[in-house]
Amino acid sequence: MNSFKYTNPTDIRFGVDLLDEQLHDAVAQYGQNVLLAYGGGSIKKSGLYDRVIKALAGLNVVELSGIEPNPKIASVREGQKLVKENKIDVILAVGGGSVIDASKVIGSAAFYEGDPWDLVIKPSIRQTIAQLPLVDILTLAATGTENNFGSVISNPETHQKLGTYGPNRPAVSFLDPSLTTSVSKWQTAAGSIDIFSHLTEQYFDRSNNTINEGLIEGIYRTVIKFGPIAVAKPEDLEARAQLMWASTVALNGLVGLGNQNGWTVHPIEHELSAYYDITHGVGLGILTPRWLKKVYADPSTHDKFVKFAKHVWGLNGADDEIAQQAIQATYDWVKSLDVPTTLPGVEITDDVNFDEMAASAVKVGSLEQHGYVPLNQADVRALLVASMTTEGFE
Ligand code: NZQ
Ligand code: ZN
Repeated sequence: MNSFKYTNPTDIRFGVDLLDEQLHDAVAQYGQNVLLAYGGGSIKKSGLYDRVIKALAGLNVVELSGIEPNPKIASVREGQKLVKENKIDVILAVGGGSVIDASKVIGSAAFYEGDPWDLVIKPSIRQTIAQLPLVDILTLAATGTENNFGSVISNPETHQKLGTYGPNRPAVSFLDPSLTTSVSKWQTAAGSIDIFSHLTEQYFDRSNNTINEGLIEGIYRTVIKFGPIAVAKPEDLEARAQLMWASTVALNGLVGLGNQNGWTVHPIEHELSAYYDITHGVGLGILTPRWLKKVYADPSTHDKFVKFAKHVWGLNGADDEIAQQAIQATYDWVKSLDVPTTLPGVEITDDVNFDEMAASAVKVGSLEQHGYVPLNQADVRALLVASMTTEGFE
């Protein structure tokens, strides 16, 4: 196990309908001037917007709407202008990962004089400047952004989608699973796969931290069970609650403490979203089974695959057999969520950008240096090509 430091001060309020009574004070403790950030309108449709406005009565509220999935730097620029002009004290982000991610970077941009894209390409700047406190109301279980330092911001002009980390986690996060019953089947599936992928990126690690392994195996079993239930029955509050807490614990840093390898599938997926603006979780669902197959070719991974097969998928039998079955089970689970399992399924039908994407993923993700199994540009290209068909899985 590597050394680590862990502080997690986010004030988490998990439960149904807590916000009507608690939101006002949770926000007002940081000041009177509030930037209310949200996405394309789902919160208006669901009635959440009206509840939020009611709860914020008496505070000065400025709105930033229209933050898109795969949030764009344009929204962050717009937010930077608003926070400066209105002397904002606190940001209230209401939405999924995209809204919360953009809000975190806006919180840093409040203290930066230059273009906020600098804070994405040189994220170390953010560690030297302040960040406005962020209160969030999470409406989609997926990313873990509600309890971590990260944001992922896209720049369509340069085909870049990059992670950036601020000095602070959200100050207060309202996790109300009933707010997620309106999430579409597509986004529910994508969110479940995203959680699964966060676990995979941290489970397949050479630190042999058995505490992490055990925690991750438990969260894996939760998402494998409740993802399909939430897709089939969107109103199932129990499934929504299980997924919401799974999203938080899968990526609040806890289950990766002391790990030694970097992530591989996310940097590759971010290239897909950067070039084709596809849904993050759907891209991960396409890539992950192929990546598992690729790394299983390295015999030094086999012990881990046997654990994955036994403790995650409940398989018994000869080691090699159950390892292969676990890879297939992963593919079948993604398919059962009713999302595409190949790149043509998300309308990526040729390999014209694959060389550039592979080169960028290797560079941005340091895949040759830090990968669980190191991957070079040709390896990543081969993964993308393998994702064009169902060969090996159907
Ligand atoms: O924009 P609105 O109208 O709100 O609609 C959104 C959006 O269209 C909709 N939605 C959200 N909550 C809803 C709802 N629709 C109905 N009812 C609700 N309750 O869902 C759509 C997708 O929202 P988005 O926020 O994009 O989804 P998600 O939470 O999956 O976030 C994905 C983004 O987070 C990044 C991804 O790369 C992607 O950009 N990630 C952030 C991470 C982090 N900060 O730690 C880690 C992740 O690995 C990930 O990369
Ligand atoms: Zn993710």
